[in-house]
Amino acid sequence: MTMHRVRCAATLLIGASVALGTAPSAAAQTLLRGPYLQSAADSRVTLCWRTDVAANSRVRYGLDPTTLDSIVDDPASVINHVVAVTGLKPNTKYYYSIGSTTVVLAGGDAQHYFRTSPPRGRMKRGRAWVIGDSGTKDANAREVRDAYYQDSGKQHTDLWLMLGDNAYDNGRDDEYQAAVFSNMYEARLISSPLWPTYGNHDALSADSSTQSGVYYDIFRLPRNAECGGVASGTEAYYSFDWGNVHFICLDSMESGRLLGDPMLTWLESDLAANLQEWVIAFWHHPPYSKGSHDSDVESELVEMRQNAVDLLEEYGVDLILAGHSHSYERSFLIDGHRGKSASFDPLLHGKDMGDGRIDGDGAYRKPGAGMFPHEGAVYSVCGSSGKTENGSFNHKAMHVGLQELGSLVLEFYGAQLDVRFLDPQAAVRDRFTLVKGGATPVQSRSHLLLPRNSDWKFHDLGVDLKTAWRDPAYDDSAWQTGSSILGYGENYVTTVVSYGGDPNNKYITTYFRRSFELDADPLDVSALTLQADYDDGFVIYLNGTEVLRKSMPSGSISYGTLASSHEGGKYETIDLTSSIDRLVRGSNVLAVEVHQSNRRSSDLVWDCELTFDGFSPWLPSAAAGNVDRQGDIPLDVLRVNGSTGGLGRSVDVADGGAVTIDVEHPPTHSGAARFALFGWFEIPTNDDVVHLGPIGDLCFPIVWWVANNFGVGPPGLLPSNPAPWSYTEPALDGPFDFVLQGVIEETASGTLRTTNAVLVRVQ
Ligand SMILES: [Fe+2]
Repeated sequence: MTMHRVRCAATLLIGASVALGTAPSAAAQTLLRGPYLQSAADSRVTLCWRTDVAANSRVRYGLDPTTLDSIVDDPASVINHVVAVTGLKPNTKYYYSIGSTTVVLAGGDAQHYFRTSPPRGRMKRGRAWVIGDSGTKDANAREVRDAYYQDSGKQHTDLWLMLGDNAYDNGRDDEYQAAVFSNMYEARLISSPLWPTYGNHDALSADSSTQSGVYYDIFRLPRNAECGGVASGTEAYYSFDWGNVHFICLDSMESGRLLGDPMLTWLESDLAANLQEWVIAFWHHPPYSKGSHDSDVESELVEMRQNAVDLLEEYGVDLILAGHSHSYERSFLIDGHRGKSASFDPLLHGKDMGDGRIDGDGAYRKPGAGMFPHEGAVYSVCGSSGKTENGSFNHKAMHVGLQELGSLVLEFYGAQLDVRFLDPQAAVRDRFTLVKGGATPVQSRSHLLLPRNSDWKFHDLGVDLKTAWRDPAYDDSAWQTGSSILGYGENYVTTVVSYGGDPNNKYITTYFRRSFELDADPLDVSALTLQADYDDGFVIYLNGTEVLRKSMPSGSISYGTLASSHEGGKYETIDLTSSIDRLVRGSNVLAVEVHQSNRRSSDLVWDCELTFDGFSPWLPSAAAGNVDRQGDIPLDVLRVNGSTGGLGRSVDVADGGAVTIDVEHPPTHSGAARFALFGWFEIPTNDDVVHLGPIGDLCFPIVWWVANNFGVGPPGLLPSNPAPWSYTEPALDGPFDFVLQGVIEETASGTLRTTNAVLVRVQ
């Protein structure tokens, strides 16, 4: 055998050398599948790929695509490569390549990366894509895919769920190749971890009881709690954490669905151990559906509703996703319904019978900030990502029923979850919002980083500044200052810059610089948008790196480079989301060179506006990170008048009204604790607070304000035992805004941790 393999390899090597004239091993294997990401968590990910000939495996990874300085090797010679990368930092973007010890097969570029999850329990912006019954391997599936790609634009997809029937008709390996890996989802597979569940068609080529067959060969799922939750001991059903969200995947096809069966026993233990704020469960057979399948009569659907749903609602599940019916259906916020559709009683089972839209009947609100039983859940059937079938769509629990192709987008923002159903034209056909813990639902997440009509530094002396001026640390104190719009030759210009005095020989290049503050973790920024008013062309450097040029030639730009002609007077919107990585928390610098198209150009114009989508800058998560020495321990929950606010969220208090502050400890709380409350009048930054000394030395520069104004003491240290701690101030005289955040010190263990922060607006 060995001889044979060596001989084959030698033959291939000769062919490669002749054809390519390069290192002989380069063509010895071909990548047939992947890479694709599995079992991702805050410190690990598994990379999988397939080659045509057996070889060893190597993954290289690092923080920059050109510097993949960490290596994981597996010497086993295989065609189906599975490499687990562990010991990673949470919330971090890593670039990677895959191949063997002798050849790189893919990666080492900007497209091949994975991003580790936030620490468990941490609120973080996140985006998930959900497709169901997608395995048609045809134009339908591609249209649904392209609509999502259009919707997500340059935003990262943190998670990707497949709701079963992932490869028609029989779940064979060649069908999976066409339905998932080839000319289908490659672009998403390389950067977004895929979390599948098992459908009836997948079951035609696999078996859950023996963990064998195609589905179980392809997917590498956490059976040992590698990604959070309780170990299930099987890949058929499993759970994992993403930040403050707990996901549970069940097998509604072949694993026992009755109470006492291993899956349900595990489910209860997993739910009982969960400390995350959100719980989302998914499986193939929908507990509520009147689409192409009927949850009144089909046993898988009935049993999942009567048993799994019963447990999940007891533990406070928020959202349940399924497929199987080839349509889209979505319930109201409901609880406790186990019977047939006809027995659904809005008074008994409807927690909120509105549409769940912030701008409609209002978001669905669940009062508890964590898992509280029977506060309601939304059930969504999304089995139309590959084909559609008709149905009566008259299940009484359902708010929406559509025979439309599409997929679901989930967006997490701390205490808020937004869900949208996208059709193949990327139109939103249904949407709803869930909020927990009394948080204020927010619709717009666009924040202004740099407004129009700002003061800019400019250099208009007709001098070639080369490249040093692009550096954020460059000293521009000698430059002039003027409010935009800057330029000349147009009546709407606010600050006139010089063209040099000779109308036939104007300066080609004028330089502009401006700093702006980002009071948020760049990882919480989901989109970055520039609106520019310019004439004629420009190049922008963000913190020293070029991120955009308009009306300029390609190649290197010098002082004398001429622009193509472009007229100012209106703002052009430009997506800079792919440059989010260049942002830093705190001070950022835009350096802009504006070029003329010729030396006689009559006018020059520069102004821009910069906005981002993401968490509000008011409450940066790293403010919590400064003091959170137990990043894997869930936050204690701070409520102001019953509301957690959530990251980036505010609680409004009437001027002169009362404010009650509560802190609730998580189940891990070990007893005696001390509690300090601190607050800011202004937006907190990394430098503002927070130095924690040893026990007995909790102190914050601004905590005196809270203590003084709330009439409790000693300043900075408030009594907190027994939990929960609660304090009411009967009347606050506004108007003003302040941020509150608590720090808990468990006196037995010395453990320190923070609560969520809440922006209180007294007005
Ligand atoms: Fe199905």
